[in-house]
Amino acid sequence: MNAIPQPGASQDRSRTIQPAWVRIAHWLNALAAVLMMLSGWRIYDASPVFAGFRIPTGITLGGWLGGALQWHFAAMWLLFFNALFYLAMNLVTGRLRSKFFPLSPRAILHDLGEALKGHLSHADPSRYNAVQKFAYLFVMLDIAILILSGLAIWKSVQFPLLRDLMGGYDNARVVHFCAMALLAGFIVVHLTMVALVPRSLLTMIRGR
Ligand code: HEM
Repeated sequence: MNAIPQPGASQDRSRTIQPAWVRIAHWLNALAAVLMMLSGWRIYDASPVFAGFRIPTGITLGGWLGGALQWHFAAMWLLFFNALFYLAMNLVTGRLRSKFFPLSPRAILHDLGEALKGHLSHADPSRYNAVQKFAYLFVMLDIAILILSGLAIWKSVQFPLLRDLMGGYDNARVVHFCAMALLAGFIVVHLTMVALVPRSLLTMIRGR
């Protein structure tokens, strides 16, 4: 006898939820982001933006300023080209619109409330709830700001308009640091959420 289709039978377990290009871009981005953050902390320590605030050398990458700069500049290209690829593919395939929109402040607050009460359903792993959509769009924007403020610091003479948009060279360093801190905050929340819903890790590894 044929099985009767159940409501919500869209959860066909063999269906691809995360296409290969999303998974490859995601893991390359995670690698680049971590390398940039750890080497950035060593660069920061060589000339702290906030007097008296230093990052313990033990959790930094590069060993010394010169080494950290090498790591930072190497990982920068990976972060930049991978972000460009991810964004272009999301736009061309229409995935950006279908996966992350529609989105409203009301929906975010509603889903946040449900999540805090433990009522948010994870039955359909192919859909992001409003809080996930917001968090992922937020981190995409944050990484774009990190790249632009980094460019303003690195080539401040060649990109005077960008430097001025950041409020000058010194302010660009503050913007870069704040965007890094927000990325670090995102990573902590992101990893906590993945630990709470381990099924999502499978979709980001094998696609379904
Ligand atoms: C380090 C920087 C990281 C950033 C910026 C980041 C960002 C993102 C973004 C933007 C998405 C949505 C992707 C899309 O649908 O197009 C995502 C999904 C996901 N990420 Fe990350 N990620 C990072 C690290 C990690 C790490 C280290 C893990 C696992 C240990 C992880 C696990 C996942 C999983 C499982 C999903 C799918 C989750 C879901 O269905 O909601 N991420 N991440």
